[in-house]
Amino acid sequence: MKVLIIIGAGGHGKVIADIAYSNGYKEISFIDDTKKAFDNYQVVGTTKDIDKFDSNKYEFIIAIGNNKIREKIQKKLVSKGLNVATLIHPSVVIGPSVIIGKGTVIMANCVINAGSFIGEGCIINTASTIDHDCIIHDYVHISPGVHIAGTVEIKERTWIGIGSSIKNNIKICEDCIFGAGSVVIKDIFNSGTYVGIPVKKIK
Ligand SMILES: CC(C)(COP(=O)(O)OP(=O)(O)OC[C@H]1O[C@@H](n2cnc3c(N)ncnc32)[C@H](O)[C@@H]1OP(=O)(O)O)[C@@H](O)C(=O)NCCC(=O)NCCS
Repeated sequence: MKVLIIIGAGGHGKVIADIAYSNGYKEISFIDDTKKAFDNYQVVGTTKDIDKFDSNKYEFIIAIGNNKIREKIQKKLVSKGLNVATLIHPSVVIGPSVIIGKGTVIMANCVINAGSFIGEGCIINTASTIDHDCIIHDYVHISPGVHIAGTVEIKERTWIGIGSSIKNNIKICEDCIFGAGSVVIKDIFNSGTYVGIPVKKIK
């Protein structure tokens, strides 16, 4: 098993480290552009140092909630031929037909049902559910406790806030933010920030 380098030494990184241990990684280090030490973990460099990690020995995962930053760093890793891991907590229930892209992390107690596709660099956060035949595009973040019904499509870099619900057969465009507790019952065609039940655009 390779050594895992987690980019981003924050709370999300700490949870990802726990998932990585449960996936069998034995050696884990962090890199971070500002922090030098972090709980009991070593912070061994910054994102400027990624070239120093030999791809025969190391794999990376990005623990940064900001979708645009996560995308930028993952694309840089891939362009340099470095390895990007995919992590799935052992409690997750995933249909055998589900496809999950590299750099995606599926956190504890999620359920992803038959025919769904999860792109690259996504965060499917704690106890969220994605029902059948959904398409979750690259660098989307589904926050904890979100429920997404069947045949929903969410385009690149959209962030669904904690505890939101999305009705079946909905399409959501790229670069949206949905506030905590949002309920989406109609297609969303314009990027922006949406809140409420049902959601309304505020920015
Ligand atoms: C939607 C959100 C991003 C807006 O943040 P913001 O751009 O800083 O906006 P503000 O806090 O200035 O709020 C703007 C207005 O929207 C309202 N609003 C903000 N979030 C709301 C929400 N989730 N539901 C309903 N109304 C909300 C505010 O009350 C405010 O209304 P006002 O202008 O009448 O006072 C943020 O409130 C939110 O809900 N974030 C999700 C957090 C989350 O899911 N975290 C999980 C991390 S894993």
